[in-house]
Order: sequence, then structure tokens, then C-alpha cells
Amino acid sequence: MQIVIQPNADAVAEYGADQFSRLLSKKPDAVLGLATGSTPVALYQKLIGRYQAGELSFAKATSFNLDEYLGLSPEHPQSYRYFMQQQLFDLIDIAPEHTHVPPGNAADPITACHDYETRIEAAGGIDLQLLGIGRNGHIGFNEPSSGLRSRTRVKTLTQATIHDNARFFTEGEYQPHLSITMGIGTILDARKVLLLATGEAKADAVKAMVEGPLSAACPASALQLHQHAVVVLDEAAASKLADLEFYRHIERENQLLLQRLGKS
Ligand code: F6R
Repeated sequence: MQIVIQPNADAVAEYGADQFSRLLSKKPDAVLGLATGSTPVALYQKLIGRYQAGELSFAKATSFNLDEYLGLSPEHPQSYRYFMQQQLFDLIDIAPEHTHVPPGNAADPITACHDYETRIEAAGGIDLQLLGIGRNGHIGFNEPSSGLRSRTRVKTLTQATIHDNARFFTEGEYQPHLSITMGIGTILDARKVLLLATGEAKADAVKAMVEGPLSAACPASALQLHQHAVVVLDEAAASKLADLEFYRHIERENQLLLQRLGKS
């Protein structure tokens, strides 16, 4: 894992946006893996700004989102499809038919999960998968105890996740307890993985992911198996890492090497 520690959440978003910009300038028809939640919003705003400034185009890109609530239609304001339309898709030049979010209203969710995997494969696989992390270490909706080689499937949410996400629902509003999520195996198949975490509330999960054992108890620890996983943290999210100074040192060395190679 490459651990990148940034001074604040804005710098985390900027670093993440640079990863997308670099990929799209090299490969305009890249396949992007996207996430919802609070963390990626600042990154999406930066991508929108770069698109509006004429620096970036998504016209040839394809996207696949990690997950969706089961039981919500795409028009539902709490659905992840709706979130993506509002936060990104409606504000950039990506072709609507190139955007994919698992169908929360599928009549046959099991078949829909299988189809989602088939579509990712047919698109040539994901070039860059963006991730957040839950306080319980989940990635996508792969909650603790998820199979480390799992594929896209229906998952039951933990009480902890339902509680954390209740802030997006109004009182009395139906909040789903089930989801469709890419599996951990699906995420590990992405050619590059970019996990962003900000704020102290994520510090324990980040420590378990980076320095804990590879374990289904912390699904994000599966990223230890990935050959190209970049974890971008602000100071607060990194605050419980035992080897903090070592990670900073490695990153400084990486930057020096890139400068010497003329790639920074
Ligand atoms: C969202 C997702 C989740 C979130 C995680 C963190 O598509 O897959 O795993 O990334 O719950 O959410 P925030 O960013 O709201 O703290």
C-alpha cells in the first residue's frame, strides 16, 4: 500500500482529483470505479471545476459505482444513482449510457448482480477504483465478515452502517437494510485502487486496514493484497497509525524519485 498523508481534507481531494486527471489524459476512455458518501464529494467538486475549466473531459469514459441500496428506485433522493447524478454526472460530459450504478429496484437482484459483473468485464475492467472507508472498516457495502474474494451481491447492512447513514434520511423515512455491492474480489480486480479517508472518526478503521492483520473483520484490510493501492489520508485519519513517520519518509523518497525521473 502507498500511504499518502496530506495536511487536510482539501489536499486529500486535490490529490485524488489529480489521479483521475492523470488517468483521463493518458486514457480518455478509462473505466472509472466511483463511490458515494461524504468523502468523495470534495473530489467530485474538483473534477467538475476542471471539466468546466476545459482541463478534463469524461466524454469517452465509462463509470461503475460500488453500490446501491436495495429497494430504492434511481429517482429516490436517497438512492446512490440520484446522488451521483446530483454530485457529478449531471455536471460533467460523461455519456449517461456509460454510467452504471447497481439497480436498486431490480426485479431479480441476484441476476442483476451477475449482470453487473459481466458489464464490468465487458468494459475491460476498472482502471481506477475510488473508495471511502466505513468506521467499521467496510469498503463498498462489504461489511465485516464479508468474503475476501466476494463478487457483486446482495448484502445486509450492519446496525453500525445503518446508524452512520441515518443522517441522510429524514425522520420516519424508509431506510433500506439491504444493498447491492461490488464484492471485495471485484474491487481487488481494479487495476488501481484509491482509498480516501478524512477525519478522526476514521482513524481506527484506517489503522486496522493498514497495520492490522488481513482479516474479514476489517474488509478494507484486503487492500493489503492489491498491487497498486493508494491510501490518501488527512492528518486526523492518519493519527492512529503506529508507523506514521516511516510512511511520510517513504512518500518523500517517492516524490524525490519521481522528480529525478521527471514524472512529478
Ligand atoms: C459508498 C460506499 C461506502 C462509503 C463509506 C464511507 O459508495 O461504498 O463504503 O465509502 O461508508 O462513507 P463516508 O464517506 O460518508 O464516510
